[in-house]
Amino acid sequence: MRLRIMTEQDVGLRLNTLSGWNQTAADWHRFLSNSPRGCFVMEHDSKVVDTATTLAYQNRVAWIGMVLVDPDYRKQGIGTQLLEKTIQHLDHTGIRTMKLAATPLGKPLYAKLGFVDEYEIERWILKRPPAVSTTARSTCPRLVPVQLEQIFQFDSELFGADRSFLLRSLHDQNPEFAVAVYENGLPQGYAFGRRGLFADHLGPWMAGGRVAAGKLLQVFFGPITPRDSHRRLLEVQSGVGRIVARLRLCSLGRSRAWSAARMTIPADPIRFAQSSDPNLDESIP
Ligand SMILES: CC(C)(COP(=O)(O)OP(=O)(O)OC[C@H]1O[C@@H](n2cnc3c(N)ncnc32)[C@H](O)[C@@H]1OP(=O)(O)O)[C@@H](O)C(=O)NCCC(=O)NCCS
Repeated sequence: MRLRIMTEQDVGLRLNTLSGWNQTAADWHRFLSNSPRGCFVMEHDSKVVDTATTLAYQNRVAWIGMVLVDPDYRKQGIGTQLLEKTIQHLDHTGIRTMKLAATPLGKPLYAKLGFVDEYEIERWILKRPPAVSTTARSTCPRLVPVQLEQIFQFDSELFGADRSFLLRSLHDQNPEFAVAVYENGLPQGYAFGRRGLFADHLGPWMAGGRVAAGKLLQVFFGPITPRDSHRRLLEVQSGVGRIVARLRLCSLGRSRAWSAARMTIPADPIRFAQSSDPNLDESIP
């Protein structure tokens, strides 16, 4: 068994397909290009049997993700070992706050390593085939560079650290999902999205009010073009009534088959916005 840094050659979807995860090769490449020395694998007989990635924002907060062990290699301590290496790496780079979304399988492992619960996360899925419109995208023009820069600035104030790397990468990959809502020339909300293995995924998204939130959701979950996937989802903090009402209005239903807990280490002294997770996000005041 050999623990080593992940390389581009390791990018394959075997482990996340085995676990039924939605990430694509583009997601793995994004983690690697942000943290070329901060993503790790465990290799056995030239086969990658365990992975862990990090996504660091300005050395202030890092997101740990893609913690996946081949089912044939579980319950042997491999997951813990790789996670310890990942935490050690972040410690060495001086990042004090680490966050992740823990599945029920991963939660005990993280708790043992000192992660504490922040909140539960739910997945919501579009329940109806969206009305097909050939003109759907014409109502939301693509963002131009000056708007993107403004959004990055706004986002860094809301979020608490610069995450323009992530937002730019999502925009460049799927500009059709990047939208903003303006009032008096200032962004009131913005959203990014990405294609997934089985569903398109909304996030990160931020809205400064109900109207902006409604518009952003409407763009992603409203009418689609015939070429778009009909499967769409997002993940949100559990039990936030005003979000639930809004999601139901857009014909989304909660997935009973999926749950996760947002966890952090150490308990976070800085109040980051909810959206440090590249895989989920919402913020509706
Ligand atoms: C969650 C996951 C990463 C854990 O990986 P793992 O390699 O099985 O984890 P470990 O072996 O280090 O620890 C798991 C359990 O095995 C036990 N264990 C460790 N070494 C052992 C050994 N030699 N013999 C028997 N049990 C052992 C651990 O004590 C732990 O038990 P516990 O859960 O009762 O505390 C793996 O189940 C997985 O990939 N799941 C699917 C994807 C997923 O949910 N990932 C988590 C994302 S948050």
